[in-house]
Amino acid sequence: MDQTSSNKLLSVSLFCFIVLTVTGIHAAAFEIQNNCIYTVWAAANPGGGKELHQHQSWHINLTDAGSIWARTNCNFSADGTGNCESGDCDGVLNCASDSSPPVTLAEYSLNVSKNLDLFNLSLMNGFNIPMEFKGTSSMCTQVIKCAGDINGLCPNELRHPGGCNNPCTLFKNDQFCCNVDRRSCGATAYSKFFKNLCPNVYTYPMDDPASTLACPTGTGYKVVFCP
Ligand SMILES: *[C@@H]1O[C@H](CO)[C@@H](O)[C@H](O)[C@H]1NC(C)=O
Ligand SMILES: *[C@@H]1O[C@H](CO)[C@@H](O)[C@H](O)[C@H]1NC(C)=O
Ligand SMILES: *[C@@H]1O[C@H](CO)[C@@H](O)[C@H](O)[C@H]1NC(C)=O
Ligand SMILES: *[C@@H]1O[C@H](CO)[C@@H](O)[C@H](O)[C@H]1NC(C)=O
Repeated sequence: MDQTSSNKLLSVSLFCFIVLTVTGIHAAAFEIQNNCIYTVWAAANPGGGKELHQHQSWHINLTDAGSIWARTNCNFSADGTGNCESGDCDGVLNCASDSSPPVTLAEYSLNVSKNLDLFNLSLMNGFNIPMEFKGTSSMCTQVIKCAGDINGLCPNELRHPGGCNNPCTLFKNDQFCCNVDRRSCGATAYSKFFKNLCPNVYTYPMDDPASTLACPTGTGYKVVFCP
């Protein structure tokens, strides 16, 4: 390495050190486990992706904020391109973008304020497979689980290959998407369908704030597909 590139490397490392220190970015250890009887392709943005057979886990350290989900019925070639029936992220194994709906999403923000992490499960992009999201340390034992038979009972008009769409995705109207007056936006027959089967998750933008859980920063997390 010549002097110029080693100086560059030094200043880049220094810059990263300063950014990480000043903004208090914190990494948390996540275990993402597949308990489905079928293979899924786990996805995280940021984070990438990994094929998981039944009972396999993906251990990954994640920072800042992002989302985790499962892809189903994927075909990827050796170069990591392909497609999935649900949860596809622009046709690549290592996701660097959000999922196409419908997909069950685990969302987190680490150290969002006063050393607290926030996390939730969201059906605002629909549902593909059952999921559980929980803290793993003794400091935090809260669990969010969505294991209702949403695909089996999905209203016909919301059915989609690999899952059940959120009405906002499908109809894009103000009532379902809460575009106009967010404060007065309420539950609908569709949001109640999801909420009845999965009471602890977000089903529309102004859903019960109690669906977000908080854990002390430093907690580890576990996401389980088909809990
Ligand atoms: C969380 O962020 C604050 C700054 O907002 C920082 O002082 C603290 O060290 C961070 N905590 C961890 C565990 O990274
Ligand atoms: C996550 O970070 C911890 C602490 O730095 C490290 O020991 C561990 O090996 C990392 N895990 C992965 C999967 O990278
Ligand atoms: C993947 O390939 C299998 C076997 O050829 C096929 O049945 C399935 O429909 C394909 N999936 C997608 C999403 O194209
Ligand atoms: C769910 O959690 C993520 C990450 O903390 C957050 O950005 C999102 O707003 C939350 N969803 C709702 C509906 O509050």
